[in-house]
Amino acid sequence: MDDALELAVVIPTFNERANVPVLIAKLDQALAGRRWEAIFVDDDSPDGTADAARELARLDTRVRVIQRIGRRGLSTACIEGMCATAAPIVAIIDGDLQHDETVLPKMLDALQRDPLVDVAVGSRFVDGGGLGEWQRDRVKKSALATRLSRRVLKADLTDPMSGFFAIRTDVARRLAPTLSGIGFKILLDLMTASPEPLAFVELPYVFRTRIEGESKLDHVVAMEYLIALYDRMFGRVVPVRFAMFAAIGAFGAGVHFLVLSPLYAGLLWTFRASEIVATIVAMTFNFFLNNLLTYRDARLRGARALFEGWIGFCLVCSVGAIANVGVAIFLFNENYGGWAWPALAGIAIGAVWNYVLSSRFVWGRY
Ligand code: GDD
Ligand code: MN
Repeated sequence: MDDALELAVVIPTFNERANVPVLIAKLDQALAGRRWEAIFVDDDSPDGTADAARELARLDTRVRVIQRIGRRGLSTACIEGMCATAAPIVAIIDGDLQHDETVLPKMLDALQRDPLVDVAVGSRFVDGGGLGEWQRDRVKKSALATRLSRRVLKADLTDPMSGFFAIRTDVARRLAPTLSGIGFKILLDLMTASPEPLAFVELPYVFRTRIEGESKLDHVVAMEYLIALYDRMFGRVVPVRFAMFAAIGAFGAGVHFLVLSPLYAGLLWTFRASEIVATIVAMTFNFFLNNLLTYRDARLRGARALFEGWIGFCLVCSVGAIANVGVAIFLFNENYGGWAWPALAGIAIGAVWNYVLSSRFVWGRY
C-alpha cells in the first residue's frame, strides 16, 4: 500500500490565476516523497483561474479542478473539495500563497502518528507563528472575531480564524451535513459542528503577505461571520434566514410609517391612497433588502429577473397581509386579552407565510 494516496490539498480560489502554478511548484517541493493530490475549487473566476489549473492538470494528474458555476463562498468550496477526495487526510490551504506550505508534511505526520488526533491546525499564535506584515486594522478585526468565536467554541484553539489546517477526511465527511457553510471560517464551522470536541494539535506558521491578486474579505464577508455565529448559537430555534427576513420585515414596517405620515398627515392625501403608496414602497424596500441579504446566495440579477421577483414578492406579501389581518380580527373577536396579542399573532402568521412562500416562489430552491 506504499503508493496509496495520503493527502488531498484543497485550494479554494477566486481570481488567483497568477498564483496557481507557483503554489503547485511549492507543493511539489514541500510534499516530495508523499502521495498527494491538489484539488482547486474555483468559483468560475473571471480571470481564468480554473483554466490555469487545468493546464497544469493535463501534465500532472495530481492536480484536479472543481469549477463551480453560479456559486460563491469560501466555506462551501472547502466542503465540496473535502468531499471530493479518496485521500484519508485532507488539508485546506489558501490559493494566494499566504499560508506556509512547508507546514503541510508536519500536519500530515501529526495525523498519521497519532490516530486520536482529528485535526492539525496551522496557528499564527503559538510559539514560532506570526502575523507577518498584516495591516494593523486587519489584526485588530481578527482579534475581535477570535474573541467573538469563544461564544460558540468550546475548544481552546489559539487561532480559530485560521483557514490553514488538515483533518481526517472521514471526520470532515461525517460533519459535512451539519456545517453552516456560511462565510470564510470553515475551521470554526467544523470545530463547532462536532457533538464531541475534536482532538487537535497546533503547528506554528507565519502568515505571508499577498503578492499577486487581492483579498476577497470585505464587509459582506464580515457580516457573514456574524450570521454564522448567530446560526451556531440560535439557528436551531430561529433559522438564520427567517431571522433576517423578519428583521428586514420590521424595518419595512418603519419605512411604511415614514412614507405614510407625510402623505396622509402632511399632503392630506386620502388614507386609502396614502396606505397603498406606503405599502408598495415598503414591499419594494423589503424585496431589495431580502434579495441583497437574506437570499444573497440565490440573488436575482438583471432587470427581468428583478421585475418578476418583485411582482411575485408583492403578490405573496398581499396574501400575507390578508392572513395577518384575518388572524388578528379572529383572535380579537374571540377576546384573547386585548388588542396587542391578536395584532402580534397576526404579524407572526403573516411573516411566516411571506417567508415560506417567497423562499419557494420568489427565490426558489428552498
Ligand atoms: N472558491 C472560492 N470562492 N474561493 C474563495 C472565495 C470564494 O467565494 N473567496 C475567497 N476565496 C479564496 C481566495 O482565492 C484565496 O485562495 C482564499 O480563499 C483566501 O481568501 P483571501 O481573500 O485571500 O482571504 P484573506 O487573506 O483575507 O483571509 C485569509 O486569512 C484568514 C485568517 O484570518 C483566509 O485564509 C482565511 O481562511 C483565514 O481565516
Ligand atoms: Mn489571502
